[in-house]
Amino acid sequence: MKSDSKARRGFEGDLERKVRLVNKTLERILSRRDLISKELRGPVCYALTGPGKRIRSAIVLWCCEMMSGRVNRDAEIAAAAIEMVHTYSLIHDDLPAMDDDDYRRGRLTCHKKFDEATAILAGDALLTLAFEVLAKEIKSPAMAARLIGELAEAAGPAGMVAGQMADLDFENKNVDEKMLRYIHTNKTAKMFSCAAVMGGICGSTSLTTSGGANEKQLKRLREYGLKIGLGFQIADDILDVCGTSKQLGKTSGKDARQGKQTYPAVVGLEKSRELAWKLADEAVAALGPFGEKADALRRLAESLLNRTK
Ligand code: IPE
Ligand code: IPE
Ligand code: MG
Ligand code: MG
Ligand code: MG
Repeated sequence: MKSDSKARRGFEGDLERKVRLVNKTLERILSRRDLISKELRGPVCYALTGPGKRIRSAIVLWCCEMMSGRVNRDAEIAAAAIEMVHTYSLIHDDLPAMDDDDYRRGRLTCHKKFDEATAILAGDALLTLAFEVLAKEIKSPAMAARLIGELAEAAGPAGMVAGQMADLDFENKNVDEKMLRYIHTNKTAKMFSCAAVMGGICGSTSLTTSGGANEKQLKRLREYGLKIGLGFQIADDILDVCGTSKQLGKTSGKDARQGKQTYPAVVGLEKSRELAWKLADEAVAALGPFGEKADALRRLAESLLNRTK
């Protein structure tokens, strides 16, 4: 992989184009009057159009591109769907009953801007809308079912919701590294691996439900996503310690105050950084069989650890 500044600028330009495409798809969905009631439109738009990094959705687009040579409409829809589920998870994560945060993406959190009940319902709306859009807009019913299954599994009670539950359960308790890995893998990494797999599915030419060459490739993408996702949450934990609220767009230093189990708290900052880079290397190794076509995903693994927000 080239590591010169020209290649990096190329990657950054590519990411910007992907973010624009995700935002365009989200705006198209939000503009449909039949999908969201008048009462919910304000809070749903507020949360979804905030300046998020759109990393999970960009991964969907990149993985589709890698598999099929281009981003297709199914991938655009899948990218929008995962961004909706991610945004719902942030709205609920910020609620007083969970992490109790006042700022998100450089603005007031949804429950601060509106009220708690509205924020809960805006989250519910985004979660269900994601599945409605997948069910109705993905061209092939088999592909829609597969994408819905992947997203539900990653976000649901054996995925992100399980991780969020454990994250709260273990506040102010001692955890070992194994439990910490369980929490971070579930609350964050599974959504990253889901993004990679959804993109791969959208870019597949011969989708099978079991076995087949495609499944081997999807396994690689799943592995890549799990590794960068865990690294991403470790980097988030590090940024909470080392970053400023202004830079992050959310209140820094909160994890320690809330007794959260984080990598810096459990293994220290230095080991956390080492671990995150080791995971990025392992993620890159998983992409081996894809050759040059996976260069953007390789560069992403690195950029997620160098990020400042
Ligand atoms: C925040 O995710 C929640 C974590 C899993 C750490 P992001 O850092 O991707 O948040 P946005 O979407 O860019 O706001
Ligand atoms: C959140 O992790 C993971 C989610 C599933 C939303 P954090 O609680 O660390 O995320 P931030 O720091 O609030 O963005
Ligand atoms: Mg949390
Ligand atoms: Mg939080
Ligand atoms: Mg955090």
